[in-house]
Amino acid sequence: FEPPKPPAVVKEDEPEVDDGKKKVTIFFGTQTGTAEGFAKAMAEEAKARYEKATFKVVDLDDYAAEDEEYEEKLKKENVAFFFLATYGDGEPTDNAARFYKWFCEGKERGQWLQNLQYGVFGLGNRQYEHFNKVAKVVDDIFAEQGGKRLVPVGLGDDDQCIEDDFTAWRELLWPELDQLLLDEDDATTVSTPYTAAVPEYRVVFHEPANANVDRSLSNANGHAVVDVQHPCRANVAIRKELHTPESDRSCTHLEFDIAGTGLTYETGDHVGVYCENLIETVEEALNLLGLSPDTYFSIHTDNEDGTPLGGSSLPPPFPPCTLRSALTKYADVLSSPKKSALLALAAHASDPADADRLRHLASPAGKDEYAQWIIGSQRSLLEVMAEFPSAKPPLGVFFAAVAPRLQPRYYSISSSPRMAPSKIHVTCALVLDKTATGRIHKGVCSTWMKNAVPLSKSNECSWAPIFVRQSNFKLPTDAKVPIIMIGPGTGLAPFRGFLQERFALKEDGTELGPSVLFFGCRNHRMDYIYEEELNNFVESGALSELVVAFSREGPTKEYVQHKMMEKALDIWNMLSQGAYIYVCGDAKGMARDVHRALHTIVQEQGSLDSSKAESMVKNLQMSGRYLRDVW
Ligand code: 2AM
Repeated sequence: FEPPKPPAVVKEDEPEVDDGKKKVTIFFGTQTGTAEGFAKAMAEEAKARYEKATFKVVDLDDYAAEDEEYEEKLKKENVAFFFLATYGDGEPTDNAARFYKWFCEGKERGQWLQNLQYGVFGLGNRQYEHFNKVAKVVDDIFAEQGGKRLVPVGLGDDDQCIEDDFTAWRELLWPELDQLLLDEDDATTVSTPYTAAVPEYRVVFHEPANANVDRSLSNANGHAVVDVQHPCRANVAIRKELHTPESDRSCTHLEFDIAGTGLTYETGDHVGVYCENLIETVEEALNLLGLSPDTYFSIHTDNEDGTPLGGSSLPPPFPPCTLRSALTKYADVLSSPKKSALLALAAHASDPADADRLRHLASPAGKDEYAQWIIGSQRSLLEVMAEFPSAKPPLGVFFAAVAPRLQPRYYSISSSPRMAPSKIHVTCALVLDKTATGRIHKGVCSTWMKNAVPLSKSNECSWAPIFVRQSNFKLPTDAKVPIIMIGPGTGLAPFRGFLQERFALKEDGTELGPSVLFFGCRNHRMDYIYEEELNNFVESGALSELVVAFSREGPTKEYVQHKMMEKALDIWNMLSQGAYIYVCGDAKGMARDVHRALHTIVQEQGSLDSSKAESMVKNLQMSGRYLRDVW
């Protein structure tokens, strides 16, 4: 839920020297860079305010090589801040996962952090059930273990304006830090209000002669690992529409060819896909920037002499390329602009009226207008730029502060390596909405997938940089353990992988426990995806029972949770036999409703009161028998 990467504004790590200054460590758990950007922004402002302290920004993953080191190192911290984003089913970001696990598991450590004064700021989205869970949990445990909380935990809400939440939290923080980090004689000196400079890369324009280097990714990516920073190129081998022509929506089945890439995956993992903006989107961006598409340039985070650019730390540069290519691959221009982006645009608006209005929208006085005019109406960066034609930021500013990086999209893999060892299957619903301004919003990656040219059609097939992210959404190691799967719509994806795996196990002679799949779609004739395959799984015994809810066939809506209620006794019996229960799909509506249904089933079938039922469901969750892959 963390919004895309904002400009980062401060250089990390200075070498540790004992200069008598108070040391403050600012940790971040980030996925798309927002938490990191906030951590660095806080450090930069703090440095300006408190000359007698040092501030170090630390990626949680880099803090300790071994779990044992956390304790030893944390004991030495006196003042620490944590910027922590919450994802999916209340999970930490990848780079905070190891720390979070270690921290939560050690609840019983006692009061070992009495030297620590701390503050936590969370990044989440109130639309989701586990709003800012990671930040809240970490904040609580620090307090339980003797830490002194300097400010209440900040609950950043990306559904509204997370930048405002961050600003409000900082305002609470400074008076506390003043007491801690200022001497009495300093107290009067810090009065100049702090304004962050607009970050900017150094840009070098190259001769077109040098512009012919093709830097597109090759299959082997040249690194020992394939991960989010080092994706590998995968061709689209197969693409199919899964809905029938009767449907007014679209869902794509796509197969990436991973033969020869070194990439491997397990059933239940996610694939990250770097996709490209549509040509029409890029054309519009080029028009608004008023620069030639063939401008060949590189961006740099250092000065010509190799010294770092003053005061700011920017996201790693992308490789030299043409402007068209940079806008195609690296710029997110369809999300709503952040307030920091509006300020960067204002700084480069030649018409003072444009600059004033942009600054107003980013100011506390313009809060409601920003909420309505930008967020409420889903105005894209391109739409905003079109409203302020005099704002033409130079490329170094545009890529540093105006357009965030286009982020990879994650999909639950819908195949099993036992059936498809050299392919990664994706099942992706097309995102296509009309916004309040009348703009047709086309999801970047789902549209790319829908239009992808597969190798089965042309040797000039589409390809994308991809990587695999491990998940804990896994089948029980013992195939005899019963499983209950709930996945309407594209929530079916990982279960198709599960069933392929069970099918292969069965072929190998493994004995399988009972399994039931609750699938939901609108109408048999339109969006019953993979129908034939599902029936085959039942026939072969890979799936014991298939239950389908059709939401738009009869007079009333039938959803998976209604079908679960009809099968309450079976579900209860399976759970009593140690079943695992899996839910995949939409977190805001479906997963919440299914959770309630499960609670009711446990309560009614087990004749328990509500709190006993709740603790039983919690136990299922804690013991890893109730797993959710939700978005
Ligand atoms: P609907 O579109 O008719 O509302 C896959 O998208 C299926 O999930 C559709 O049949 C959709 O129904 C259904 N669905 C929508 N909201 C849901 C919810 N809160 N719980 C369960 N299923 C839901």
